[in-house]
Amino acid sequence: MRIIANNSGPGARVEEFDLRQPLEAPDFRTLLRALGNFGVLCFPRQDLDAAKLAAFAGRFGTLEVNVANMFHAEGLPEIMHLSNMRDAAGTPLGLSDAGQGWHTDMSYSHDIALANVLHAKLVPMRDGQPLGDTQFLDMHAAYEDLPDEVKQRLEGRVAVHDFEKFWDVMRLRPGSSRGPLTEAQKARKPPVQQPIFRVHPVTGRRVLYCNPGYAIRIAGLEPAESDAMLAFLFRHQMQAKFLHSHHWTPGDVLMWDNIATIHNAVADYGPDEPRFILRAQVMASLDYGALAA
Ligand code: SIN
Repeated sequence: MRIIANNSGPGARVEEFDLRQPLEAPDFRTLLRALGNFGVLCFPRQDLDAAKLAAFAGRFGTLEVNVANMFHAEGLPEIMHLSNMRDAAGTPLGLSDAGQGWHTDMSYSHDIALANVLHAKLVPMRDGQPLGDTQFLDMHAAYEDLPDEVKQRLEGRVAVHDFEKFWDVMRLRPGSSRGPLTEAQKARKPPVQQPIFRVHPVTGRRVLYCNPGYAIRIAGLEPAESDAMLAFLFRHQMQAKFLHSHHWTPGDVLMWDNIATIHNAVADYGPDEPRFILRAQVMASLDYGALAA
C-alpha cells in the first residue's frame, strides 16, 4: 500500500491496494490513521460489488440504513445506489440528488458517522472531462484558523442540527421528486444537539463540527447572535484554502472522514449524462482512538 498526499488541500490517494482482499489489522490501522490525517482517501481502480463494499466499509463501524430506505442494493439495505439513471420503464435506479449542498452526513443524528465510502461505477463526462465532483472542506484546518475570541466564545457550546433543514432545501431544487418527510420519518430523526468543537478520535485534534446543511441554531445564544455566529462559521469554513474537489474516475472508491470534513455533491450534469455510485455510511460505533494507537 502506498499513500500519496494530494498536492493541495485535504486528501490522499491509496495506491497498490485491492479492497476485495480481507483487511488485516495493520492495514486497517494504517487506513484509519490516514483517514484522520488526510480526511479523504481515494482508492483508484477498484472493482467491488455491493457485498465487498459493505465488507470493507463495515470494518470501520456499523453501516447505517438510510432513513429514506430506498434504492438499496438487493439484499443489502446498507448499500445505497446514488444515480440519475432510470430503467426502461422510467423507474429511478438511485437517489438522484444526494448531498447536493454543503453538509456532514448524520450530524442530525445522536450517533454520528465516522465515514462515507462511495464506489463509482459510472461517472458523467462532457468534452472528455468528468462531471459530478464531490467537494470537501477540511474542518481540522477550519477550527485551527478560527479567531481566538470565537474559539473562546463557542468552547463547550452545542448547536442544534435538524434533518428536515437539508431535506427541505433538496425538495426546493428544480425537478426534485422528494416529498415532505412523513411524520414517522420525522419522529425517527428529531433535532439533536452536537458540540460545535469536537476532539477527533483519531488525531486528538479539535475540529469545527458544524455545517450549513443541518445546523439551525446555537443553544444558549439569543436568536440574532446565534444566526450571526452560524453565518460567520459557515462563511469561515467555506474558504477555498480548506477545499479539495474530487474529480471522479470509474472504479474510484472514495472514503471520507465525516467528523473532520464537510462535503458537497456538485450537480453540474444532466439526465442524459449517467452517474451511478454505490454508497455505504459508516457510523462512529468503535473506539477509534484505541484502534488507531
Ligand atoms: C453524499 O453526500 O453522500 C453524496 C456525494 C456524491 O454523490 O458525490
